[in-house]
Amino acid sequence: MTAPEPDIPAAYAKSATFFGRAQKVLAGGASRDTVLRTPHPIYAAEARGSYITDVDGRRYVDFVNNMASLIHGHAYPPVVEAVMAQLQRGTAYTFASTTEVIYAEHMVSRSRAFERIRFVNSGTEAVMAMLKAARAYTGRPKIAKVEGAYHGSYDYAEVSQNANPGNWGREDAPVSVRLSSGTPQSVLDDMVVIPINQPDAATRILDMHRDSIAGILIDPIPHRVGLFEADSAFVERLGAWAKTAGALLLFDEVITFRTEYGGAQQRFNVAPDLTALGKIIGGGFPVGAIAGRADVMSVFAANGGPARLPMSGTFNANPITMTAGRVAMEHFDAAAVRRLNALGDATRAMLRELITELGAEASVTGAGSMFRFHFSSQAPTSYRTAYLDKQKKARLVRFLSDLLDQGVMLADTGAGMLSTVMREEEVDRLRRAARYSLQKQ
Ligand SMILES: Cc1ncc(COP(=O)(O)O)c(C=O)c1O
Repeated sequence: MTAPEPDIPAAYAKSATFFGRAQKVLAGGASRDTVLRTPHPIYAAEARGSYITDVDGRRYVDFVNNMASLIHGHAYPPVVEAVMAQLQRGTAYTFASTTEVIYAEHMVSRSRAFERIRFVNSGTEAVMAMLKAARAYTGRPKIAKVEGAYHGSYDYAEVSQNANPGNWGREDAPVSVRLSSGTPQSVLDDMVVIPINQPDAATRILDMHRDSIAGILIDPIPHRVGLFEADSAFVERLGAWAKTAGALLLFDEVITFRTEYGGAQQRFNVAPDLTALGKIIGGGFPVGAIAGRADVMSVFAANGGPARLPMSGTFNANPITMTAGRVAMEHFDAAAVRRLNALGDATRAMLRELITELGAEASVTGAGSMFRFHFSSQAPTSYRTAYLDKQKKARLVRFLSDLLDQGVMLADTGAGMLSTVMREEEVDRLRRAARYSLQKQ
């Protein structure tokens, strides 16, 4: 152990003061639970590239990249320049914007499954629109989802997001568990929960709702489930089931789009009917999108009468997001995706070697440019094996807090998401901080 113990109270004094002020005006102290931490959040002052500086002047390597949304790190100069130019021309109009058309052409060119696209302002909205589109297209009410998967804050998508041993029921027949109190029973009844990577159990459950399922919602590398890949056999079975039952296959690629030029869906022999997108496609600005088969996406089209699914949004496809997103994605070309994934491979390998060297009771999952640290010697293979009991949670909190003190920032799940401006130097910082923390545990 080489690093000195930092003087924590003094080091975070300004952040502590800001949180005192925040608690008097913001419900729960912040508008976004993700930034909350005990005893107080850390307040950012500025960020550039791979680094973020807090209001107390402490500098961190940022492996969170605003929850995987900043594919080129902070304040990426080509995006900054393009957005500054667009700012002078206006930020939103009630005319259609050419920036939307030009960006849509780029996004549609990235995947054959994206025949049509629509932009919204968050991943939550994208998933919501996708589920509503599946219902509008099929005329059916129910959606199936994987236990533990995070799909944003739409009532239906939230079901069983944080199911726990006290309420989750049998693994091969998971219970639909409400996230927020007050969620109507009807929402739970319309969500069918399946276990990941268990095709037999999943299809048995789906069969019980055969005529009422509009779509099967799946994140191909679900972060909160454990950040391991959905098996191709599992996804392909779901796709085949959907086809014969007249339901749709719905991919949530809000995070995973970063793993391939055309999204993680490129890795499977089955194409989704619809895909929800978000995060990196906004170039650092709020965004979401729904893309997919032209006939399914036609639910949004008015064609002289009311659309089957009318959808507006004051800031949908605003020219700032469209400009930032287009520049960011044009710079995230196939070569950039390959380079970033190679850095992801190297980072996961480095962490695994470190765990072996130290004999730590830990493991690492992930794919592409993402990794997640787990305090279990066996890498989890299901939501239930990735579930953090009190003891594992406490170890993770200590680990992350030690990393922060060493100037390295990971997400509160123990996950990290790389950006194209990161190099071996940043990965080496992570190695040194992780070594320090693991030895201290
Ligand atoms: C897989 C997935 N879907 C949907 C969302 C919701 O996106 P947003 O936070 O932009 O609403 C997230 C956000 O973390 C996500 O990870």
